[in-house]
Amino acid sequence: MYAFAPVAGQAKPDLYADLAAAARAIVEGEPDAVANMANLSALIWQFVDRLNWAGFYRAVDGELVLGPFQGKAACIRIPFGQGVCGAAAASGQTQLVPDVHAFPGHIACDAASRSELVVPVIRNGEVIAVIDLDSPEAARFDAVDAAGIEHLAQAIAGAI
Ligand code: SME
Repeated sequence: MYAFAPVAGQAKPDLYADLAAAARAIVEGEPDAVANMANLSALIWQFVDRLNWAGFYRAVDGELVLGPFQGKAACIRIPFGQGVCGAAAASGQTQLVPDVHAFPGHIACDAASRSELVVPVIRNGEVIAVIDLDSPEAARFDAVDAAGIEHLAQAIAGAI
């Protein structure tokens, strides 16, 4: 049994430090990428509040393919360059989108989504996956959330 849990009321930088520590601990010694992404999705879902979707898309043969996640069933394949996830994958840059309706080409997998944070996972200079967080609240994510998920992405890049 794992007993990772966020501390009620803690400051966001501390929460993301705890999330990264839990993530490192949960993937430690486990070589199976699917098992690790499944547990990491569950940890993000548990630590980060006000989400309606959290999970992975993996770079497979030049497109993004759905990986383990929490939330409603989602679009399976996203070309690089399309939507928020495809923009993150194509540019290698975090995408912080306060209003998904204002993002050209946003792909609506869940009509409830209002804001989105997508962080590329980079290994050996290549985007191997993206971590996608969706919220039903407009402007749910800020620079602290982005830095926290970027830190997480670095911590787990070797384990997925
Ligand atoms: N909204 C994303 C698609 C993935 S889902 O939100 C899970 C996008 O525009 O890339």
